[in-house]
Amino acid sequence: MTRVGIYPGSFDPLTKGHEDLIHRSLGFLDKLVVAVAVNVGKQPLFSLDERLALIRETVTDAKVDVQSFDGLLVEFARKIGATVIVRGLRAVSDFEYEFQMALMNRHLAPKLETIFLVPAFDLTYLSSSLVREVARFGGDVSGLVHPAVQAALHKKLGR
Ligand code: PNS
Repeated sequence: MTRVGIYPGSFDPLTKGHEDLIHRSLGFLDKLVVAVAVNVGKQPLFSLDERLALIRETVTDAKVDVQSFDGLLVEFARKIGATVIVRGLRAVSDFEYEFQMALMNRHLAPKLETIFLVPAFDLTYLSSSLVREVARFGGDVSGLVHPAVQAALHKKLGR
């Protein structure tokens, strides 16, 4: 049996925290689909195509597939045969939102399990929004994102 997981998110942009979670999940999954949400409920810095391209450039493992999805996550998970949703839990502040989402997804698809992974300790403070903010004000993001993402941030923000 092939164990397929889905790792959904906005990835605006992909950070080293996301990369860490992707590699950790490959320890127990045969295949991981990184699912980039089309509608993220906020104006993203990077377009959908840019976010997809940056993930594909950063993550080259053959067990990882990068796709976009629109609508309900559980519907997309069913379509691709995923049995596990992977999400990261960095701090207590993540918990309420993640718990709500996991329970709603279970309500919608009882057999689809959500698994929370804890990122590497030195990446727990990291988020896409902080990376965007640091880059916007000219700070160094080289240790926080892949060089391709760093270059894209520089290009996008004109620095
Ligand atoms: O990285 P994010 O922004 O925290 O990701 C949130 C995401 C995209 C995983 C979530 O908003 C989502 O699953 N959206 C798809 C719509 C959906 O299924 N909503 C109900 C889930 S409770």
